[in-house]
Amino acid sequence: MLRELSGPKVAFLREPQLSDELFVQLRDMIYRKSGMFFNESKKYLLERRIENRLKELGLEKFEDYYYLLKYSPDGEEEFRALLDEITINETSFYRNAPQMEVFQKYLLPEVLKAKKVKQLKLWSAGCSTGEEPYTLAILILEVLGAGISGWSVDILGVDISQSALEKARKGEYGRYTLRNMPLRLVQKYFVKDGPIYKVREEVKKLVRFEAINLLDRSQTNKIRGMDFVFCRNVLIYFDAEARRRVVASFYESLNPGGYLFIGHSESLHGISRSFDLVHFPKVIVYKKNERISTVMSHKPLVL
Ligand SMILES: C[S@@+](CC[C@H](N)C(=O)[O-])C[C@H]1O[C@@H](n2cnc3c(N)ncnc32)[C@H](O)[C@@H]1O
Repeated sequence: MLRELSGPKVAFLREPQLSDELFVQLRDMIYRKSGMFFNESKKYLLERRIENRLKELGLEKFEDYYYLLKYSPDGEEEFRALLDEITINETSFYRNAPQMEVFQKYLLPEVLKAKKVKQLKLWSAGCSTGEEPYTLAILILEVLGAGISGWSVDILGVDISQSALEKARKGEYGRYTLRNMPLRLVQKYFVKDGPIYKVREEVKKLVRFEAINLLDRSQTNKIRGMDFVFCRNVLIYFDAEARRRVVASFYESLNPGGYLFIGHSESLHGISRSFDLVHFPKVIVYKKNERISTVMSHKPLVL
């Protein structure tokens, strides 16, 4: 609808200016709706990204754009387009090899061994274009081998960016994103079609994707019984309050003793005491402890 109304990409006669006041209003709106927080040092970045939306819509002023988001019936749809513009979707297969090795060699076999019912559930939270959940599917196939036929494996990839999820569902990639993946696994689990690498069906069928905002408890409340949650390189975009809120929902979604992986530059320090730290060389994993949740109190965020 919005796209039909919108004009062609325009070159501005005069560069639009984002006032400090409007910057605060826009970034607060983005924060309330997504948890992503742009501080003053990121004003320029946000301004350039929003400017791309102005061009796309043929608008000349940031004010017009703000009113469109806030009051137009198309505001929600435009907000999703804005999210596609401002989210950082950088990812790759087999990202952070030491974490992948810890998962494959130690934690996955341990969890599988302890299972009474052959059901395994994983959540890739902030999965971007799908490389992370497909990598996990490949490692599960490696560990279970032919035995996978006796198992129910469900990997849920979740992201707020619709365009990232579209790519994820397609499962077709260029060589660059596979640069860290051992060649043997690339040859085994992808079909090469010219420069495109297509994820094989046996991998694809273990993974499903959903558009979910990690801050929206009404959506994350449904995600339960997880053995592993991977939320890597997502918390860095949130402030402490939003991190607490998201980590609290991971805690609730995990089975007792389940594992949480976060990015190697991220930490739960000051965010939650409900996880035990499990140390491996170069890798720390968070294990849901069986005591009562001590996720540090968080103020509700209005969605
Ligand atoms: C840098 S990527 C990380 C991808 C992958 N986890 C990895 O480590 O390779 C961050 C992703 O988080 C997503 N994201 C940001 N805020 C989100 C939110 N509130 N709910 C769901 N996804 C979100 C972005 O759209 C983006 O795809």
